[in-house]
Amino acid sequence: MTHDKNVETLNWIDAGNFSQSCLRMIDQTLLPVELKILDCRTIEIVWEAIKMLRVRGAPAIGIAAAYGLCIGLQPLFHDGDEPSETEFFDKLKASHDYLAGSRPTAVNLFWALDRMTAKAESLRGAMPPSQLADALLAEARLIHEEDRRICRAIGHHGAALVRDGDSLLTHCNAGGLATADYGTALAVFFAATEQGKKIHVFADETRPLLQGARLTSWELWQRGIDVTLICDSMAALVMRQGKVNAVFVGADRIAANGDTANKIGTYGVAVAARAHGVPFYVAAPVSTFDLTIADGNLIPIEERNPDEIRCGFGTRTAPAEVRVYNPAFDVTPAELITGIVTEHGVISPVHCENIATMINAG
Ligand code: MRU
Repeated sequence: MTHDKNVETLNWIDAGNFSQSCLRMIDQTLLPVELKILDCRTIEIVWEAIKMLRVRGAPAIGIAAAYGLCIGLQPLFHDGDEPSETEFFDKLKASHDYLAGSRPTAVNLFWALDRMTAKAESLRGAMPPSQLADALLAEARLIHEEDRRICRAIGHHGAALVRDGDSLLTHCNAGGLATADYGTALAVFFAATEQGKKIHVFADETRPLLQGARLTSWELWQRGIDVTLICDSMAALVMRQGKVNAVFVGADRIAANGDTANKIGTYGVAVAARAHGVPFYVAAPVSTFDLTIADGNLIPIEERNPDEIRCGFGTRTAPAEVRVYNPAFDVTPAELITGIVTEHGVISPVHCENIATMINAG
């Protein structure tokens, strides 16, 4: 199956009327077998789509949540109704809190919800609720558009770390599907390739939900990048065999000291990279930093349904009753990270002062 370039990860479908418009997304749970488009017309559908990973990846979750807040406000405006300001702000808060409960780890979700709420608060009393709703939709579109530019900038800065002929490794999916477009870790590969560098990429399949196999190998293959899919358990071996020059991964939340939460298995890749002298880079926008958290021990880690491991994709592979531990993310300590590629540049070495300086540079 090939990817129709006109189909975007996320798209606001404007019906010419705020309350009739909807959030369109690719249902990523079905890729790469089926390219199904999902139109979200209620906040419950947006919540379910985030929870079930129909839309996933930290920046994409943030964008979906921003549009999701607009969807949550729509019932106030059906049939041309104009709610009171109190009704508007009560609904906004309820929608914010509801969407915030969908997934706990990716800070971009909370960043986007807080930014949208702050926008509304800044305009409180200055315009009627229907105009506040329009302003919030404009803010969601801005978050979406900014992410496109940020991903290009990350790709630009990261590509400088890649040499012609390099063989690279990535874990999970930090590509166009996980962002507005182009990705973070995969943006580095796309930009290096656009600069004419020939690269090869190992994509870890990423148990248990196979984002690497289903999404990353697909995205790289679509763009003509030389990709080899491996099981997660093979990453250390290919490093030992001298087949990996550098690792690039995305992030879901980065603490003030640089400790980084990303898809489960990332920590093991970082340990293997350190053991084999392979540079290990994280690529992420500034919105993925959570400076309210001193270190990675404080990052909330999502635990998911045990059946994702016992019965993944509908096939039973373990006893139905066996106890399962299913954290969706792990934390890589800053000392294992060679550098963090942001839209402002590369943070290296990774420590509090360098992080604060780079973030303030924006
Ligand atoms: O559970 P997921 O698929 O949402 O996890 C995604 C990741 O861990 C990504 O690496 C991260 O969000 C960065 S996406 C640019």
